[in-house]
Amino acid sequence: MRSEDGQTIRLEDYRPTDFILHSMDMTVRLFEGSAEIDTRLVLERRDGVAEDVPLVLDGDELTLTGLVLDGTALAADAYEAAPERLTVRSVPARDRFLLDIATRIVPEDNTKLMGLYRSNGIWCTQCEAEGFRRITYFLDRPDVLAPYKVRIEADKAAAPVLLSNGNPAESGDLPDGRHFAVWDDPFNKPAYLFALVAGDLDSIREPFTTASGRQVDLVVHTEKGRAGQAGYAMDALRRSMVWDERRFGREYDLDVFNIVAIADFNMGAMENKGLNVFNHKYVLLDPQTATDGDYAGVETVIAHEYFHNWTGNRITCRDWFQLCLKEGLTVYRDQEFSADERSATVQRIGEVRKLKAHQFPEDQGPLQHPVRPTEYREINNFYTATVYDKGAEIVRMIATILGQDGFRQGMDLYFERHDGDAATIEDFLACFEAATRAELSHLAVWYNQAGTPTLSVREEYDAAADRLTVTLRQSLARGAAGTRTDPVHIPVRFGLVGSNGQDKEATPTHGADVEGDVIHLTEAEEVLVFENLGEKPYLSVLRDFSAPVNLDFPQSEADRLALARLDPNLFNRWSALNDLTGEALLRACREGGATAAAPLPPEIVDAVLATAADAALEPAFRAQALALPAEPDIARMLGRDVDPQIVHEVVQAARKAIGTRGVQVFERLAAEMATPKAFSPDAESAGRRSLANAALAYLTAATGDPAAAEAQYASASNMTDRLAALAILVHRFPDAPASQEALADFYQRFETDELVLDKWFALQATIPRVEALDTAITLTGHPKFSLRNPNRVRAVLGTFAAANQLAFHRQDGAGYRWIAGKLVELDRLNPQIAARIATAFRSWRSFDEARRDQAETTLRQLVETQGLSTDLRDILGRSLK
Ligand code: TRP
Ligand code: ZN
Repeated sequence: MRSEDGQTIRLEDYRPTDFILHSMDMTVRLFEGSAEIDTRLVLERRDGVAEDVPLVLDGDELTLTGLVLDGTALAADAYEAAPERLTVRSVPARDRFLLDIATRIVPEDNTKLMGLYRSNGIWCTQCEAEGFRRITYFLDRPDVLAPYKVRIEADKAAAPVLLSNGNPAESGDLPDGRHFAVWDDPFNKPAYLFALVAGDLDSIREPFTTASGRQVDLVVHTEKGRAGQAGYAMDALRRSMVWDERRFGREYDLDVFNIVAIADFNMGAMENKGLNVFNHKYVLLDPQTATDGDYAGVETVIAHEYFHNWTGNRITCRDWFQLCLKEGLTVYRDQEFSADERSATVQRIGEVRKLKAHQFPEDQGPLQHPVRPTEYREINNFYTATVYDKGAEIVRMIATILGQDGFRQGMDLYFERHDGDAATIEDFLACFEAATRAELSHLAVWYNQAGTPTLSVREEYDAAADRLTVTLRQSLARGAAGTRTDPVHIPVRFGLVGSNGQDKEATPTHGADVEGDVIHLTEAEEVLVFENLGEKPYLSVLRDFSAPVNLDFPQSEADRLALARLDPNLFNRWSALNDLTGEALLRACREGGATAAAPLPPEIVDAVLATAADAALEPAFRAQALALPAEPDIARMLGRDVDPQIVHEVVQAARKAIGTRGVQVFERLAAEMATPKAFSPDAESAGRRSLANAALAYLTAATGDPAAAEAQYASASNMTDRLAALAILVHRFPDAPASQEALADFYQRFETDELVLDKWFALQATIPRVEALDTAITLTGHPKFSLRNPNRVRAVLGTFAAANQLAFHRQDGAGYRWIAGKLVELDRLNPQIAARIATAFRSWRSFDEARRDQAETTLRQLVETQGLSTDLRDILGRSLK
C-alpha cells in the first residue's frame, strides 16, 4: 500500500539513516472530521554524511500544512512535500536543528485501520509496521529511537479519556469545552510503538507492586458499559507480570500500564509502550458470551503483548527483516507462560496442532519464506505463522539445546547487552554463544532457509546381539524460494521405552552426539548404536516435538500402539495415537475413499477409546486424544491431487466408527464430565468441558440423532457448552428444523453482542458442504455484515476461505470466484485484511486437476485487476509463482 510501484526491499541493502533523531514532541488536536498534528523533531546529520544529502522523511497519504526549520518557515523551493515523502533540501551540515512539521488528516476516512482512525467513535492508532507515517512525516523505521512527549487536545465530552505512551504528565481544561493531557515516555522507542487513544471509555483499575517495590497502576479500558467483561484480562495481566519477574527476572518499568479494547482492529493486539491496544475479542469475556478457547486466547494475547515490553520494546528490531527477533521470542515466552499456568502437555499439543495446521502449509507452498526473510515488497504480509510460530520453535530449540539454565544465562546476557538497542538475530544468537560457549552455527541456519525439513528415522534391532541401530537423516527440498539447503541443528528428544513402560538407560555405544535425552543431529546423516537393552525397546522420537520437522518414521503399528499406551512422555503418547489415526485416514483417502466405510482398524479405535476412558489422565489430554487430525491437515499430508470431498467422507466415517464402538465410554464421559453449576474458566474445568463435548459429538455421530445436542443447547449454562452443541447441530444437521431454530434463538439472545455474532456468522460460513457457498453469500447480505469491521470479515470471508474445504474448494470454482470478487471490494477499504484472506489460495496446487485449473484461472484474472493494493498483489503474485 505504501509504494505504488511495489519495489522490493532487501536485507542486504540495510544501512543506518543519514540523520539522527534526538527527540520527538507532538501535539495532536482532535476534532470531529479532522486531526491536526504538530511535531517538533530534534535532528542531526550523522557523522560522515555529505553536506548535500537532503533529509528525507516517510509519509503515506499525508498533507503537509506547515514546515519550519530552526524557527524559520521554509520557502517553497526548499522542500518537496508529496503524500508519501517529505524532502528537505538544505538542512544544517553539522549542528543539531529543529524541524517543526504540521499535517492534517481525517481519521474518519481511514478504513485501512493503520495510522490514526476512529472505531465506534474512539480515536485510536495502529502504527506497526509503517502506520506512523500516515500520521506525520517521520523517519519511520525501527532503528530510529527517541523519547516522545505527546500532548493531546480534544472535546472533553467526546473524549474524557486521553492516553498515550509512557507516564501521565500535565492535564487540564481548555476553552470551548476542550481539554488536554500530556504524556511523557522516557524510554527511547521507534515510531511503530507510538500510540494514542481518546474517547469516552469505561475502565477497571488495579494496583501492582513489582518485585523491586515499584508501584504501577494497571488499567483496562473498554467501550462504555463493557468494563464488567475486563476482569479476566486484568487477572491475566497481573499473572503475566508476576511470571516474567520469576521466570526471566523482568520487571515493568513505567508508573502506568494501560490496555484499551477496540472493536475495529486489523490483528490481535499491539504492544505499544505502556499503552497496549487490543482487538476487543482478546479482552472482553464472560461465561455467557465466551468459550474456554476464548479465555485461553485472552490469556495468551495479554501475556504476549505484556512480554513484548522487554522482547520488542526495551530491545527492538534493527529492521523489519528481524521481525522474528521480537515475535518468535515473544511467542515462545507466551507459550511457556501458558504451559506453566495450564497443563504443559496439553499446551504443547495445541501448539503443535496449530503449527502443522498453519505454518507447515505456508512453509510447503508458494508463500514459503525463511523465518528471517531476505526481501519483501510489503512488510504487512510477513506477520506470518512462519515468523511467529516457526520463530518460536527456533527459540524453543535453543532452550532444548542449552537446557533451561543455559537458556536463562543467554537471555540474561541479551537483556544486559542490548537494552535500549535495535538488535539483530546475530546479536541474539551471540548472547547464547557468549553466555554458554555453545556453538550455534547450525542452529542459525534455521533462520535463513525456507521449508520444513524432513527427519527420517530408521531402526534395526538385532535380537541375537541385543543391539539397536538407529539411523537419522535430514533433508530439505529446495523450495520455490530457491533457498540453500544446508543441514540444520535438529535436537531430537527421545527415549527407549521398555515393555514395563519405563525409559531405558539410553547412552549410545557408537555414534552421534547425545546429551541426556537429546540427540544433536547436525549432519545430513548420523547412526547411533545402543547395546545391552535386554529386549527390543519401543523407540520414542521427537518427544515434545523438539524440532519443527516432518517426521518420516515407518514405525510398526504394534510399536505405536504400545507407545500410545506406555510412553512416559505424554506428548508422545498423543502423537503415537495421532500418527496412527492420521496414517489410517491417509491410506483410506489414497484408496479413493473406497474403504471409507471402515477407515480405522478396530485396534486403533480401541486405542483411542482406551485413552479417552483412562481416568489416570487429565480430561483435557483425553479430549485431545479424541480429536482426529483436521481435514486440511490430512489434505496437506496427501500433498497432491487432493479431493476434499473424499477427505471429508473419510473423516466422517472415522468419527462414526469411533462413536459407534465407544457408545458406552462416551455416555459415561458425558455424564461424568458434565459442567457443575458454577462456571470456572480454569484449565481443569475447561478440560472437563472439552472432554464432555467431544463425547457429545461422537455420540451424535453414532446415533445420527441431533436430540442430545438439542437438549444441551437448550440447557447450557455457559457459552462453551452452548456453542459446542450449536456447532454439532449446524454442521452435522444443517437442514434439521432443530438446527435452524437453535440458530435463530442464538441470534436473538446475542443480537447486541458483536463478538458473539461473529461466532454465529463463522459457524454458518463453515458448514461442511458445497451449498455453504450460498449460505456465505446470504450472510454477506445480512444487515449486520460489514466489510469495515475486520472481525466480521474474518468471521465470514476468512473462515469460509481458510476453513471450509468443501465450499471454498468447490470443483466448479464458484467458491474461488466469489471470494475473488469480495477481495476486490475489500481491498479498496482494507488491503491488509484482503491480503490476509487471499492467503487461503496458497495450497491451490495440491488439489486435483479440476480445482487446480479453476483456482489458477481465478487467481490470474484477479491479479490483473486494475488498482489492487501492493499488499494483495504481493500475495497473489507469489501464490502464482
Ligand atoms: N506486534 C503485534 C503483535 O504482537 C502484531 C501487529 C503487527 C499488529 N502489525 C499489526 C497488530 C497491525 C495490529 C495491526 O503481535
Ligand atoms: Zn507480537
